[in-house]
Amino acid sequence: MEASKANVSIVVVPFPAQGHLNQLLHFSIMLSSHGLTVYYAAPRTHIHQTRSRLQGWPTSATSSLHFHELPIPPYTSPAPNPNSSIFFPSHLQPLFDEFKHVQPHLANLLHSLSATSRRVVVISDFLVSFAATEAAALPNGEPYTFRCTPPSGALAWQGEDGPVGNLLKALGLKTPSKEDRVTEEFSAIVARSKSTPESGVLINTCRLIEGDFLDIFMQQPDLIGKKLFAIGPLNPIVITETAGPRHRCLDWLDRQPSGSVLYISFGSNSSISDEQIEQLAMGLLNSDQRFLWVLREADRGDVIAEGERDRQNKLPPDFIEKIEGKGIIIGDWAPQLEILAHQATAAFMSHCGWNSCIESISMGVPMLAWPMHSDQPWNAVLLSSYLKVGVVVRDWSRRKEVLLAVEIEKAVKEVMVYDKGEEIKRRARELKEAVRQAVGDGGSSNPELLAFINHITRS
Ligand code: UDX
Repeated sequence: MEASKANVSIVVVPFPAQGHLNQLLHFSIMLSSHGLTVYYAAPRTHIHQTRSRLQGWPTSATSSLHFHELPIPPYTSPAPNPNSSIFFPSHLQPLFDEFKHVQPHLANLLHSLSATSRRVVVISDFLVSFAATEAAALPNGEPYTFRCTPPSGALAWQGEDGPVGNLLKALGLKTPSKEDRVTEEFSAIVARSKSTPESGVLINTCRLIEGDFLDIFMQQPDLIGKKLFAIGPLNPIVITETAGPRHRCLDWLDRQPSGSVLYISFGSNSSISDEQIEQLAMGLLNSDQRFLWVLREADRGDVIAEGERDRQNKLPPDFIEKIEGKGIIIGDWAPQLEILAHQATAAFMSHCGWNSCIESISMGVPMLAWPMHSDQPWNAVLLSSYLKVGVVVRDWSRRKEVLLAVEIEKAVKEVMVYDKGEEIKRRARELKEAVRQAVGDGGSSNPELLAFINHITRS
């Protein structure tokens, strides 16, 4: 190990939900591949969850990481309610509530590393502000906050006045309503995360994706003078197929013509109602396009104990027979990165979680946006109206409605069949190429990543 990297310990502290765990595991792998000592600190269940679902890297990628278990008190892990009036996964709240109790265990780890390291760099999810507080209290600690969601959205929701409003107006973008994005309990966690004592901010984005927004983002009062590293995309852009038994959907994709399949998935923690499953099924059938649909129950707080559950019993009768040869339904965890990287995949109907957006952008796959909660309504605007690599299937203003089969069919054909789709596909390909060129060498020579590494290993 180079002298400057020796004696620098990095502790990565994710928030315990898949979309958060995943981004920081990718980042940890990148840092350790540069010869840095990285501790990934999370509850045992969540370490297991994220490791077992990791995709795109060779098996050896995690071998130099130190997985440090943070004990968490027992919590209930209720089932999601797919027919709830808001889509936010409030069934995860018992886990979120107990998670704060890992703080003393994290403090123990930090103190022991502080005694033996030249510098302890703590990279914690924006929602885990106590980790930054603990890091700032060390004599040699340096806290960085990692944002799992796009900064453009954080800005857009601040309101339409001042420089943000002027920018949105100049770009012709409208902010979706804030209502129903999250629960009150979750808003309280977000509120606690403001004014964190961080030295800098890390974001899974890049200037090609959100260039117009990044400088204004860093001009917010609590971020002035702090460093910004836009280190995305963090998912590997050159995919290594997961070791072990190959998922059957990849064999199915191998048999489909190039650029012919619509992939449908609503991420790790979103569900659609029973009625909506029926309409989506009919819309897909009537569109007469090939498709691969992940129809699984949203994650519970403890996915290891609870296992995966599919929701295929909500499909219309005979649906599986009717789609024979044209489509498949996956009821378990799908290899999304490998699906997006597959040459048969043409487009992605998605809830627009930020992982899904970045993965799709970096694989050059256009999106059909169906936002459910949190940052997703804004992400849909960013993809469709700013980057123009997608269309909106279900506008956020219609979130209380069940979208009809006929409207779904129309959106699918817009991208898969009509001329407009060709233009969107071309833009998606161009953006992928530009992003890949910017991060160079499969992502490992991303200049922002190198700048961050140089900064934290400085003498
Ligand atoms: C949540 C928020 O909704 C999101 O907006 C925020 O940025 C992170 O946390 P989530 O619902 O988990 O995200 O969606 P997303 O961000 O897209 O992450 C899901 C991840 O799981 C992706 O990396 C996706 O590739 C993976 N996935 C999901 C699979 O690999 N297989 C599946 O079957 C489902």
